[in-house]
Amino acid sequence: MKHEILHGLSIPKIGFGTWKIGGGSYADPKLDSISRAALYSALELGYTHFDTAEMYAGGHAEELLGQTIRESGIKRETLFITTKVTPSHLKYDEVLNACEKSLMRLGVDTIDLYLIHWPSAGMKLEETFRALNKLAQDGKVRHLGVSNFNLKLLKQSQALCETPLVTNQVPYSLSDRSYVRNGVLEYCRQNNILLTAYEPIDKGHLKVSRALQTIADAHNATPYQIALAWLIAQPRVITIPMSFNLQHIKENIEAVEIQLSPNEMEQLTNG
Ligand SMILES: NC(=O)c1ccc[n+]([C@@H]2O[C@H](COP(=O)([O-])OP(=O)(O)OC[C@H]3O[C@@H](n4cnc5c(N)ncnc54)[C@H](OP(=O)(O)O)[C@@H]3O)[C@@H](O)[C@H]2O)c1
Repeated sequence: MKHEILHGLSIPKIGFGTWKIGGGSYADPKLDSISRAALYSALELGYTHFDTAEMYAGGHAEELLGQTIRESGIKRETLFITTKVTPSHLKYDEVLNACEKSLMRLGVDTIDLYLIHWPSAGMKLEETFRALNKLAQDGKVRHLGVSNFNLKLLKQSQALCETPLVTNQVPYSLSDRSYVRNGVLEYCRQNNILLTAYEPIDKGHLKVSRALQTIADAHNATPYQIALAWLIAQPRVITIPMSFNLQHIKENIEAVEIQLSPNEMEQLTNG
């Protein structure tokens, strides 16, 4: 596995997303079995970064992740768990309470990376960061970050965060360059902040251009793997694809080994 090294941290270039694990907006017990199988297979294949949120499956994604980790016997300290506080919980006490509940559901003593999931219209960022900084001081979370923050909010967060802000998690893929256009990616690079690319393969609906297919064929890889390889070849970018399909889970982590040439990178970037 390749890693991004920053602020004394080593974070895998490819992690495992958990949106739809255990349900969508609400828990759906019918999905428990395939959700556990997907998580278990990811752990076995060597994924060590797992991205979840209190919002996912109404907290059930965190529960399934915690249970599967414990059952796998894999040591907690070898893993890196990211979770997120929901936009409706951004007041001081709500943040502390939400974090406590995430810790309980995950069954861990500390969260490696805790993010504000989305900005909310009426949020008071100073108040939210007062709570987040307290969580970091108390050791409930190790590192802090944000998600879906534009450049202005990212800069404000960086100023309010008492520890180095580790990431801004945003949509980024071959087809979605909105956070390149709005200056966030460049700012992240200049300020040692990771851009965590979500929906890296367009929620499974990747548009396969002729160039993408040709590059995939040349590497004996799938276009999905090339889309991931293109992302992780970029400095300060990591990603967190999700899949229930065991073959896809394997292909996604193996994409880290694909070396794209400068010419292939250019074709994909400009395509
Ligand atoms: N911060 C935020 O606001 C936010 C928003 C969205 C997502 N996220 C995070 O980012 C993660 C990734 O985003 P996402 O899950 O929405 O979208 P995604 O990873 O772009 O796509 C997931 C879909 O792609 C399919 N897929 C996965 N690997 C594949 C492969 N190798 N070949 C073909 N199809 C493949 C999966 O279907 P199969 O199951 O059939 O493989 C699944 O339907 C989420 O799980 C979540 O953790 C964060």
